[in-house]
Amino acid sequence: MKDQELINRTESFVRQTLKNSESGHNWFHIERVWKNAKQIGKDESVNMLVVELAALLHDIADSKFHNGDETIGPAKAREFLEKQNVASDIIDHVIQIMENMSFRSGYDNPSFVSSELKVVQDADRLDAIGAIGIARAFHFGGFKNREIYDPAVPPNLEMTKEVYKKSTAPTINHFYEKLLLLKDKMNTSTGKKMAEQRHLFMENYLTQFYREWNGEC
Ligand code: ADP
Ligand code: NI
Repeated sequence: MKDQELINRTESFVRQTLKNSESGHNWFHIERVWKNAKQIGKDESVNMLVVELAALLHDIADSKFHNGDETIGPAKAREFLEKQNVASDIIDHVIQIMENMSFRSGYDNPSFVSSELKVVQDADRLDAIGAIGIARAFHFGGFKNREIYDPAVPPNLEMTKEVYKKSTAPTINHFYEKLLLLKDKMNTSTGKKMAEQRHLFMENYLTQFYREWNGEC
């Protein structure tokens, strides 16, 4: 099968699978990450088929909605790719990217690194910051019935993976615990450049947020 046909089929599979998913991880998130990944990948020496497949499949079954089970997504992706008779080294690489790209896995020592992983990870991280990132954070907070902000609950920068998953802290804390840290975690030069504007926008947003919180204009 031609690479382009495989990508088209993967796109349809992901669109169909995510049809009823919540809006933080729906098809539009995947489409943005896919776009970012193609943009970033242009400037890196990577296998673009692996990059595109991993970008498309990376959230096929989010563990947050499967009782924390992190194996369902990779298993679904593998089953789909095997059905398409994709070469096993490509499948293995895509699965390893899926298993190692989340911020949370950054709490553990990474067990796998590749240039393709770096590209897809940057592409996903870009969608967690900036105007879109702010929208996704408050959407997630609302979904979890979290407070917007509570000055009495300070951000916790030392959370273990388990504490992070169970946290019920206000959404503003998430900016300090994750979103504002992402700029310095970008792997690629294009990713770093794309993160700058988005990071600045979040800083300005927070400045204005506290102004309004304190009754200033
Ligand atoms: P991803 O799938 O993009 O790696 P997550 O699944 O951790 O990231 O989160 C999906 C979206 O929900 C992101 O935009 C992230 O910032 C947001 N989110 C995750 N945890 C929280 C939280 N505790 N408070 C607010 N937003 C959150
Ligand atoms: Ni994602």
